[in-house]
This record gives sequence, structure tokens and C-alpha cells, in this order.
Amino acid sequence: MGLNLKGRDFLTLKDFTPEEITGLLDLSEDYKRKKKEGILVDTLRGKNVALIFEKSSTRTRCAFEIGAHDLGMGTTYLDPSGSQIGHKESIADTARVLSSMFDGIEYRGFGQDIVEELARYSKVPVWNGLTNEYHPTQILADMLTIREEFGVLKGLKLVYMGDARYNMGNSLMVGCSKLGLDFTACAPKEYFPNEELVKECQGYAAASGSTITFEEDVEKAVKDANIIYTDVWVSMGEPDDVWAKRIKDLSPYRVTRQVMDLAHDNAIFLHCLPSFHDLGTTVGQQIHDKYGLDEMEVTDEVFESRASRVFEEAENRMHTIKAVMAATLGA
Ligand code: CP
Ligand code: NVA
Repeated sequence: MGLNLKGRDFLTLKDFTPEEITGLLDLSEDYKRKKKEGILVDTLRGKNVALIFEKSSTRTRCAFEIGAHDLGMGTTYLDPSGSQIGHKESIADTARVLSSMFDGIEYRGFGQDIVEELARYSKVPVWNGLTNEYHPTQILADMLTIREEFGVLKGLKLVYMGDARYNMGNSLMVGCSKLGLDFTACAPKEYFPNEELVKECQGYAAASGSTITFEEDVEKAVKDANIIYTDVWVSMGEPDDVWAKRIKDLSPYRVTRQVMDLAHDNAIFLHCLPSFHDLGTTVGQQIHDKYGLDEMEVTDEVFESRASRVFEEAENRMHTIKAVMAATLGA
């Protein structure tokens, strides 16, 4: 398939051509098929990867661990309390130490500048497992899920409802514009992505023949949408005192059955997860006690509906992350 990403970092999809991203999706599909058929793919035996998580994770951590183990690699998990990173040792020094022992480094944390600094000083590939600005491995899983559903990506319309200034909104805009999906961010104006990134993505969209739209009106935004996407209203690392304003501003943008009904007949619902769709979480319960909400960014009805592909999407994190590691390590 001509995919040659050996030695490359995976920090944001901006660094990859549409052909390279498509190549990663094809490779993911291949790994997924092999996993289902029980075919071993442990071609990276003897290699080891470091997994740094400065924020918590279920999917991303498990996807890197299982993906690495399936490829035959060893893993070391470093959480904020279990390493010196940032507190007693700089990112630059950490990068040089870890890259002398490991073959690849995953980093989940705060600013994108941190993962970029890590990559600058690392001799081995660095993979972004989520920063405030970007979540590129999530987008691969989303695109694989969409492609499995519709058979194509180009020409589909994806609407992102909610805080589009953060990692998910930014990354979906990059991914859609690179791969030829029409992207709409639906939120109050102050939640639209920053102008510089929008400009860059408009360039990608011009090349792929897609569009980028910002719309405050829900009905107009979701008309003909094939994919309705949302994310939590308050992201990891944000202060608790933003909740009240987010609830007020973003409640009109909750994904409800009415929203799904306004979209295309074949529309699916996606969410990177975790999601506050019921009272089954401590945070969900606390928000209920304080603000009286039973559900937040999506109703339980939509989350559990036939249109929801959130668990297929979560599974695809593993196949796509495996492909990223394999391609950049030259499996
Ligand atoms: N979607 C996602 O990144 O999930 P985790 O936070 O559980 O890794
Ligand atoms: N925007 C969310 C995504 C979680 C996968 C966060 O950063 O917490």
C-alpha cells in the first residue's frame, strides 16, 4: 500500500497527508480483520514502549497496551505520581532518558507544546495520546467507524455539537477537512475553534473538496448530517468553576432525539467517550445534585439508540492505535 511512516512522530493529523491517513485506516482495517481471525501479528517482538499518562484514561491506555502486546512489544505505564516527569525532571531530559531505553513513547497530558518538546528531544517516535489541543488517535478510530458504516468518507457531513475549541473539535475539523468530509461546528460563537487553525483547515478543505461551517442554529446545522458527534462539556484538567457557564451555554446543543430526527435518515451518533448520558457516574451525580441535570451532552435515549456507534468506535481505538505504532516503528 506504499505507507512509509517509519520513524515519524504522531502528534497531530496536520502533519499527515490524506493518503497517509487513509493508509493508516487501511492498515487498521487489516489489523482488525487479523485480530478477529486470530492471526498473530507480533512482528515487533523485542521492542518496548513507554506510556505516559498525566491525565486519566480507559480507552487510550488499554488500546496502547493491548495494541503493543498484540504486536509482541512490552509496555511500561507511567502515571503522574509514578514518575519524575515535570515535577523533578524536565520534558527534554525525560525524552532523552526514555528514548535511550524504549522504541516508542506515548504521551497524554496538557499543552500540545509538551508533546512537541518531548518529540523534539526523543530519538524514537512519540505518539500523542491526547493534549488540550489535539486527540489524533481518536480521529483515526472515528474515521474507521464512519468508513465501516458508510463505505466512504468523502462527501459525508459531520456535525460536532458543543465546545469546538478543544481537542475533539479541533481534531475533527482537521481530520474531516483532510479526508473530504464536510465539517460543521454547532455551538455559540465563543466555542468555535481559533481562527489560525480554521485558516489551516480551510486550506486542507480546499484541497479535498470539502467545506467547513460554523453555525449557532441547531436546526440549520444538523440538516442532512450523516454523523452527529459530541463530547463532554468540561474536559479533563479544566477547573470546576466553568461548569455553570458551560451548562447554560451548551444545554441547547445537547444531542437529543429531535436533533437526530433533524439529521439525515441514515445519521449515526458518535462520541469519543467517556460520556455523561445518565447518573451512573460520580461527576454526573454531582452535577445532578448541584444543577438538576439528568444527562448532559447527549440524552441517554440517543446514547443507547440504534443510531449510536459509540462502542464500535471505542473498539476501533485499539485497531487504529496498533496501526499507528506498527507504521511508525516499521513493523
Ligand atoms: N476517548 C478517550 O480518549 O478515552 P479515554 O480518556 O478513556 O482514553
Ligand atoms: N475533551 C475530552 C476528551 C476525552 C477523550 C477531554 O479532554 O477530557
